Amino acid sequence: MDKSRDALKGVAKELAERISPGMTLGLGSGSTVAALLEELSPLVMARSKTIRGVATSTQIEMAAAKCGVEVVPFKGSVDLVIDGADQVDAGLNLVKGGGGALLKEKIVMGGARSAVIVAGEAKFARKLCENGVRVPVEVVPMARESAKLKLSTLGGTPEERLLPKGYPYFTESGNVILDTLFDPIDDPRDLEMRAKSIPGVAEVGIFTIKPIAVYRLGDDGGFELMSNSG
Ligand code: A5P
Repeated sequence: MDKSRDALKGVAKELAERISPGMTLGLGSGSTVAALLEELSPLVMARSKTIRGVATSTQIEMAAAKCGVEVVPFKGSVDLVIDGADQVDAGLNLVKGGGGALLKEKIVMGGARSAVIVAGEAKFARKLCENGVRVPVEVVPMARESAKLKLSTLGGTPEERLLPKGYPYFTESGNVILDTLFDPIDDPRDLEMRAKSIPGVAEVGIFTIKPIAVYRLGDDGGFELMSNSG
């Protein structure tokens, strides 16, 4: 039996209670949200509620449609974002964008009344960028070289994301991604802002949103709810 799936089922039960009729969800991208939707949608629909969600990528749009979620356009706000993460630090700051969806994820999160992140135990660290995790930085193609230089001056080591056969990777917005390694990050908000101000940078995969709730999925099938609301 897959224990992390058990943990996900438990989280789905809790989240189902928070979803009331007429709510619009923001759907982050990635395998965790896709699996969560498989658990969550039957629970919500069993109580004759429909689930409506804004998708942050074609990947999650397809996964959501399979689960019977009504995918709707983003009209500036959502009631609750449900998302995954690549890394979570002790202050519940996040690295996101491993799947390349960081730009739309940040746009939708910026319009969310509340946000819940779901992540497996292995993704937790004391500081962001520990264990070699890189920060995805989405950049308009013309700025790929100049942005690399500027990221280096911030102490980063950027590497353009490529497809397995060596072709450049383009996001759904037509941009490239510079996966950038930093020393473990002491001040995520400061680095997020400084990287964001580089000309040509569309978005930075450091998320410092507050308040945020994070479900930590245990390897034993349990889970823990954490919050940085103070
Ligand atoms: C998508 O670009 C990301 O931000 C995902 O939320 C993140 O990579 C987590 O994905 P998994 O749930 O697949 O690990």
